[in-house]
Amino acid sequence: MDYNLDQGGPALNPEAPDSAADHKAAYVDNGTDTKDPSRYYSAAYKAREWERLWSRVWTIAGVASDIPETGDFLTYDLLHESFIIVRTGPGAADIAAYYNVCGHRGNRLVQADFGRVSGAFTCPFHSWQWTIDGALAHVTDAETFRPEVLAQAPDLVPVSLGIVAGVIFITMDENPRPLRDFLGPVADHMESFHVDKMNVVRHVRSEWAANWKTGIDAFYETYHLGSVHPQTQPIMGDINCQFDCYPNGMSRMIVPIGQPSPHFPDQETVNEGLQYMLNSVGLEPEAFKGGPRDVRPALASVKRDWSRQFGLEWEGLSDVQLTDSFATGIFPNVQFGMHPEGAFLMRFMPHPDDPQRFWYDTMTLVRHVDNPLFKVPDWMGLPEGTDCSGRERPDIERKATGEPPELGLVLDQDSELLPVVQKGLRSKAFKGPLWSEQEQRLRHFHNELDRYIEGEK
Ligand code: FES
Ligand SMILES: [Fe+2]
Repeated sequence: MDYNLDQGGPALNPEAPDSAADHKAAYVDNGTDTKDPSRYYSAAYKAREWERLWSRVWTIAGVASDIPETGDFLTYDLLHESFIIVRTGPGAADIAAYYNVCGHRGNRLVQADFGRVSGAFTCPFHSWQWTIDGALAHVTDAETFRPEVLAQAPDLVPVSLGIVAGVIFITMDENPRPLRDFLGPVADHMESFHVDKMNVVRHVRSEWAANWKTGIDAFYETYHLGSVHPQTQPIMGDINCQFDCYPNGMSRMIVPIGQPSPHFPDQETVNEGLQYMLNSVGLEPEAFKGGPRDVRPALASVKRDWSRQFGLEWEGLSDVQLTDSFATGIFPNVQFGMHPEGAFLMRFMPHPDDPQRFWYDTMTLVRHVDNPLFKVPDWMGLPEGTDCSGRERPDIERKATGEPPELGLVLDQDSELLPVVQKGLRSKAFKGPLWSEQEQRLRHFHNELDRYIEGEK
């Protein structure tokens, strides 16, 4: 295949105007050097990441639809730090974030993943209380404190918070750059998929014996699909993905869905995988007249009908957006796989103490459509009987180290692979990764990380 090396590979919709979500961004030349592999295992590097990256960057703390009512809260842990995200009122922006720590003796104030407080947060240690607006409301046996001590009793300490397309970002930076500047075109892409109208219907957190960046690297490319996930080849692109690199370490790949990989030997027949895709939108494979290249446009056409029938507001979406996977890298630690019907929000959450462990945290969101004729597609991989109404926020399903995430075969395969990659990264003989342009997002990500670690950002 002619790879268009100097333009960073193919464009899936060459006609797309600059403003379109599927427009191919100008190629970013990130050079050809490699990186010292110690970043994947060294404790010293991890300490620098804490100080120079995590303490300053915006990260995704949660999803606003998880806390719909005043007093609803969620907790978000980032390495050894923890935050409370709480709804303080009915407006879309009425959400606050605080460090999750009691100002009396440093206890972690809230331990639950989610909950609702009526009135105040109460510390379990000595029952001090704070309102949802962060004000100290009650000190137990206040008369036993000398006034000079009580005068130091703090309110909850806030952190900056921003919301884009219903996704909540926070930063510990006391003087952060505006969130939309940081996200760049990614913010518009999230909005174009109406992510704010989706709800989390499944949330799985599994622990993998690898560095968080080993995880990011594997999810930021499709180069390994043929080797590790050959079952994807009948219906999914790989070498023909569109890669786009944006400012501030953001990136994405658009993975064509509903057509065979150029590596797949059969390019002539509507294979079983494509038949499955036709079925998934209610088309009879037996009655389908076209060839394998006609499946993807047929899927897009059905989805356009759905948009009209169910009022989904997908009129602004191109065929590429309707059918393909927009796997978007939100620097530093997220891959957000967006589709009109739903999205996979994957966070690669570093372990607080061990640079060779991370949590692979996946929230599956779906667009709830109040019409019994509308079905959430099978390929989203939700277990039988999953409540997709958005009425009940599911608990986080936690998996032990080494236990597969049970999010489908592809992810189980990745969970087996990554600890093995992690072992190899420590070899004395390994001098650093050699990235192809199919792996350009990795180079883009690591160069941005270097700018933080080296103090340029
Ligand atoms: S540590 Fe929280 S009330 Fe004492
Ligand atoms: Fe994979």
